[in-house]
Amino acid sequence: MAVKLKSKTKTVYKCGQCGHTSLRWLGQCPDCQQWNTFAEEKETVVQDKAPRRLTEFSSGVTPLSRVSEESVPRLTTGSSEFDRILGGGLWPGSLILLGGAPGIGKSTLILQVSSSLASEATPVLYVSGEESLAQVKGRASRLGLKNESLLLLSETNLENILEAVRKYQPKILVLDSIQTVYKADLTGSPGSVAQIRECTAELLHLAKGAGLTVFILGHVTKEGDLAGPRVLEHIVDTVLYFETERQQIHRILRAFKNRFGPTNEIGVFEMTSVGLKEIPNPSELFLRQYEGAAPSGTAVLGAVEGTRPLMVEVQALVSRTAFGMPRRQMSGVDYNRTLLLIAVLDKRCGLHLESQDVYVNVTGGLEVTEPAADLGIACAMASAYREKPVDSKTVWIGEVGLGGELRPVGQLADRLNEACKLGFRRAVVPKQAAANSAWPRKNGSGQPFDVQMVSTVSEALERF
Ligand SMILES: Nc1ncnc2c1ncn2[C@@H]1O[C@H](COP(=O)(O)OP(=O)(O)O)[C@@H](O)[C@H]1O
Ligand SMILES: [Mg+2]
Repeated sequence: MAVKLKSKTKTVYKCGQCGHTSLRWLGQCPDCQQWNTFAEEKETVVQDKAPRRLTEFSSGVTPLSRVSEESVPRLTTGSSEFDRILGGGLWPGSLILLGGAPGIGKSTLILQVSSSLASEATPVLYVSGEESLAQVKGRASRLGLKNESLLLLSETNLENILEAVRKYQPKILVLDSIQTVYKADLTGSPGSVAQIRECTAELLHLAKGAGLTVFILGHVTKEGDLAGPRVLEHIVDTVLYFETERQQIHRILRAFKNRFGPTNEIGVFEMTSVGLKEIPNPSELFLRQYEGAAPSGTAVLGAVEGTRPLMVEVQALVSRTAFGMPRRQMSGVDYNRTLLLIAVLDKRCGLHLESQDVYVNVTGGLEVTEPAADLGIACAMASAYREKPVDSKTVWIGEVGLGGELRPVGQLADRLNEACKLGFRRAVVPKQAAANSAWPRKNGSGQPFDVQMVSTVSEALERF
C-alpha cells in the first residue's frame, strides 16, 4: 500500500558563509563568528506519517516444514534462579521488562546480572537514568562486583542512549528505568504513557534489528499502576515482576509473560547487604519442622508455581461464633474457593461450620490459589474443627468438587517428587490419578513413601 507523506514548510535562518541553520535570526554566527550573515529561508519538512514498524523482519509465505530452525545458544546470567525464570537463560535479541515497586531490588538484581554477564565478548551497557555513575559504583562496591568490562552511562535522553549503543555495540543493554527516559521530539514528560510506549518501541526496533538484548526496568505501584510498565506488556517478549510477600523479607520474581519460556515460573530471593541471594529450595521456607505432631488445623499441601512444585503449610482456626454472623477471614488462599470448601465440608462431610468463625492462613506469606490446594485447605479446616492434628509428614493434593468428590490435578508426579525430596512419608491424592503410577516409592531419607488414593473428601478426612 502506498503511504502518503504530508509535507509542511518551516521558516529557518541560514548563515550565508558557513551554512549554519538556526530557528531564530542571529546577529553573529556561532560557527564562523561572522556578523549579519543570517537570511530567512523556507524549508520543506516531510512529515513522517508512515506507520512505524516495530520489527525489521518480514518474509514470504513458507510452509512450516520448510522453515529452517535457527538454534541460538542462550546466555547464562550467572544466577540459576534467574536463568530458570527466563526459561533456561537469556534469549539473544529479546526485550525483557522487569517491573516492581520502588525499592524492591530491581536495580540490585540487574546490576548483579549485568556484572556477571559482562565480558570482552559480551559487552554490557548499563544506563541509569535515576542514579549518577558514582551512586551505581557505590552499589556495585557494596555488592562486591568488580567487573572491569561493564560499561556505565548516566543518561535520560533516548537519542543519546541510542548513540551510545551505536558507538559501543553492546550485546546487552540495561535501561534503569523506563520512567526516566524521554524522547526529545515527543511532548509529554518522562514517564508519561506516550513517552514510555514510544521509547520502548524504539528499543524494540533496535533490539530486533541488531540482536541486542534489552532489559527495561520499570516501577509499578502497589496497585499495579497503569501509567507504568503495564502498557508495555504486549510489546516486550518477557515480563518479569518482582514481588514481595507480606513479611517483606523475601523477594519473589515471577515470569508473567514469556515468549521463550514457561510463565508463572517463580524464583525466590533474599535481600541481604551484599545483594540478592538465591533461595534454591523455597519449600523449606514455607514449612516448619515440628517436634512430634503439628497443632490441629495445620496441613501441608502440594502446590505448583509455574513449573516449580512447592510444599506449603496452611493453617486454619475454627472457633464458635460469638455473635450471629460467623466470620470468615482468609489470607494467602482464594476467598471464594475457600467458602465453597466450607460449604462442601458442611454438606458432604457433616462438619457444622455454619456457627463457627473460620480463619485460614498460608504460612510464609505465599499466595496459593490453584484448585489442587483444595484438599489441603479442607483438611486444615476439618482438623481445626475436630481439634485433631493431621500427621505432619503427609501431603494433601487434590481439587474438591461440589459433590465432595476429589478431582485429579496436573503435575502430580512433580508434586510427589518434591514431597519425597523434603522427607514426607505419605501423600493423599485423588483416586482418578491412579492411572499414572510413575511416582517415587522412597523419600529423601530412604523411608518408604506411601501414596494413598481416595475418591472423596470424607474418605480423605479419615486419613489424618
Ligand atoms: N546497605 C544496604 N544493606 C542492605 N540492603 C540494602 C542496602 N542498601 C539498599 N538495600 C536494599 O536495597 C533495596 C533497594 O534496591 P534497589 O535495587 O535500588 O531497588 P529498585 O531499583 O527496585 O528501586 C532497598 O529497599 C534495601 O532493601
Ligand atoms: Mg532502581
